[in-house]
Amino acid sequence: TFSEAEKAAITSLWSKVSGHADDIGAEALERLFLSFPQTKTYFSHFDLSHGSADLRRHGGSVVKAIGNAAQHLGDIDHALSRLSDLHAQNLRVDPGNFRLLSHSIQVTLAAHFPKEFNATTHAAWDKFLAAVSSVLVSKYR
Ligand code: HEM
Repeated sequence: TFSEAEKAAITSLWSKVSGHADDIGAEALERLFLSFPQTKTYFSHFDLSHGSADLRRHGGSVVKAIGNAAQHLGDIDHALSRLSDLHAQNLRVDPGNFRLLSHSIQVTLAAHFPKEFNATTHAAWDKFLAAVSSVLVSKYR
């Protein structure tokens, strides 16, 4: 569960991100693939070149899913239920990769929103992305 201060930090930064989902998402994915090249194995069918349409489209959908969670902080499980099934049952992404993507997203947010991404907001987003990841890996067995 999130404190009122954490909720405020999550939703206020989300309001800045929401209009730039494709840009932020593409950059987060590019950072993921460059810093942690093993993560590229799940995306062999993608064009992973800088600014590609695949990176922008997929980055946009990842960020929008995070936005959906940000708007349902009391019930992230329910909000991400379909995605949780998809990642566990169809995609079978190694759960360790979620920490790597969460890190890449945070670096991207820090680079784009240096004023908003202070230590408090950073801590709240770290907790939030860990909660999102935990829902997405909850149906593995
Ligand atoms: C697909 C969100 C983490 C690999 C998707 C989709 C979304 C999404 C919204 C599209 C679903 C659809 O087409 O209906 C997220 C979120 C994550 C996350 C919110 C964590 C914050 C990861 C990680 C990996 C991964 C860590 C692997 C490194 C994939 C793959 C697809 C996918 C391979 C299918 C891509 C395609 O073929 O179009 N994810 N994801 N995801 N995700 Fe994730």
